[in-house]
Amino acid sequence: MEERDVAAESAALPEGVLADLTPLERDIFRARVELYWPDVLRPLRRLYGARPDFDAWCDRLLALVAHGYQTRPAELRLLDLRRQGQPDWFQQPDMLGYVAYADRFAGDLRGVADHIPYLKELGVTYLHLMPLLKPRTGPNDGGYAVADYRAVNPALGTMDDLAELARRLRADDISLCIDLVCNHTAKEHEWAQRAVAGDADYQAYYLMYPDRALPDQYEQTLPEVFPDFAPGNFTYYEAIDRWVWTTFNEYQWDLNYGNPAVLAELLDIILFLANQGVEVLRLDAVAFMWKRLGTDSQNQPEAHYILQAFRALSRIAAPGLILKAEAIVSPPKLIPYLGRGEATNKECELAYHNVLMVLLWSSLAERRVTLMTRALQNMPPIPGGAAWVTYVRCHDDIGWAITEEDAAEVGLSGPGHRAFLSEFYSGRFADTFARGATFQYNPRTNDRRISGSCASLAGLERALAEHDPRATDLAIRRILLIHNLIFAFGGIPLLYMGDELGLLNDPAYLDDPDRRDDNRWMHRPAMDWARAAARQDWWSVSGRIYHGLIAMLAARRRSAALHAQAGAFPVWTHNEAVFGLLRDSPRGRVLVLANFSERPQTVPGYRLHEMVFGGRLVDRLTGREIESAPGITLEGYEALWLTPLPEIDPVALAAMKTTTEERAK
Ligand code: GLC
Repeated sequence: MEERDVAAESAALPEGVLADLTPLERDIFRARVELYWPDVLRPLRRLYGARPDFDAWCDRLLALVAHGYQTRPAELRLLDLRRQGQPDWFQQPDMLGYVAYADRFAGDLRGVADHIPYLKELGVTYLHLMPLLKPRTGPNDGGYAVADYRAVNPALGTMDDLAELARRLRADDISLCIDLVCNHTAKEHEWAQRAVAGDADYQAYYLMYPDRALPDQYEQTLPEVFPDFAPGNFTYYEAIDRWVWTTFNEYQWDLNYGNPAVLAELLDIILFLANQGVEVLRLDAVAFMWKRLGTDSQNQPEAHYILQAFRALSRIAAPGLILKAEAIVSPPKLIPYLGRGEATNKECELAYHNVLMVLLWSSLAERRVTLMTRALQNMPPIPGGAAWVTYVRCHDDIGWAITEEDAAEVGLSGPGHRAFLSEFYSGRFADTFARGATFQYNPRTNDRRISGSCASLAGLERALAEHDPRATDLAIRRILLIHNLIFAFGGIPLLYMGDELGLLNDPAYLDDPDRRDDNRWMHRPAMDWARAAARQDWWSVSGRIYHGLIAMLAARRRSAALHAQAGAFPVWTHNEAVFGLLRDSPRGRVLVLANFSERPQTVPGYRLHEMVFGGRLVDRLTGREIESAPGITLEGYEALWLTPLPEIDPVALAAMKTTTEERAK
């Protein structure tokens, strides 16, 4: 029945908007509407189906989509064609992301274009530029308080500069990703300003309450995101005599997606940005998009419907665009953002694997991989059309997303282990290698999140300060080890700007009054171009990290078996310090072994045999042949990417060996 309804509704195309198109373009649009409209209606009915004006809203959304299609530049339509011809483009093992603040990396957007050769040298195919749309003036949460979604931060350039940068990047096979802050706007945004001026239509864009009655009820079950500098989830504004929902800072007003006008506005912005040439949108704080009394108002089913609607609607106008969910939540809550059940392959194509990130740091601190193995085994597989974004550090703090259940299964207490990790990485634990800081201690929950750069958390800062060559060596190995795993896991691995050179914590933020309260700025340093210039010195600390990464990335590009569609199954290695990850698919098999302790560790031969990795194996990272029968011994913090010798193409094997020999020279 639904099929018929759909056909009938898709016939009601907004012909006026399409009038300027050629007959072929109109046919393409019609075909896409037919294809995607069921996926549009399914979530929309659940969100707004009970409203008497539901059909009118569907018409409105379709008109917006038609406008987005009509205004899509020809070269981007060509991109759409390419992407649809190779729908697994973002799952390829040659994908590599780089994340940077445009100003800290290169001054402004034009400066970024000048540094494309640096990105190419690293092998970058995807560039995420941190929030760059026009923020409010004054404190703006690192750009996550947007005052105008259709303008670029004037300090960085203009919308034309952004479109030009996207074009230049695309010419170099680099896809541009930017943030869309879709959970909240700055209170200076025009919608908020109109709301403040008393416009009831715009007041309905936000969640506003005349008194504390409802806010107090909500607060009973709401966590606090910034308990330190923005406690509570509501803020009183005298000008309107209202309590406004502000999950994050007071100046970030949560949007009300219960109102379809909000969804329509954001859809229009999505299509506008896609038409500037943005290929990936990082949808910020998506877990918070729907509120429900008596819950933590995170990860509600409706938040997923909103994302599914965004995806299906944007596919009609700009099928080349993909969506990335930023939901930094616990494992069972995280998986659904990549689509489950009837939404399989119909939600976000990408999501941050914050669980893997947390477990990498947890395993380094413990020198044990049992929790990582178990917790990752407990995560169900993701759809074939989706991929993880894997990373070791980002611009945010680290929150220990470890469930009580996962911890208990390996004999740990959740609260105890999380407290240990916070002690360890804030540098307060007696026997730690890390230098970091506590971000937002919450005395109510004893929750301590952590700030710090990859290198400082991995021990490099302390080792250099103590002029300890052995500790320096170990820190470099740790940095390379955790990157090795985000490269091997499948998906798009992200290099966070500066990590490729081992940049340390930067205390300069303490001098900036707009930033000094937020210690996440310690791990958002400016790019050190002098250090980057010295990267060819293989024996310097930065050079060792840089070239270590480059070598692993080259091996990754040569390994079709690491395609994101291949499952990533954690396996027990019978050695608690060695993580095992099996990547197995018709494209081939790789057994990743990674030693999380500083001492040599052996994986027994019988265990390799059991996993059908007996006989002669080849390490894809070096081309080295290894006999598995006596067991395989890994040096401290060493990782291997093993494939049985007979399964390796001889030409590929020769290439691996040659690269390693060249490196050795
Ligand atoms: C996301 C961002 C974070 C920001 C928050 C509110 O979690 O990564 O930096 O503070 O959203 O926008």
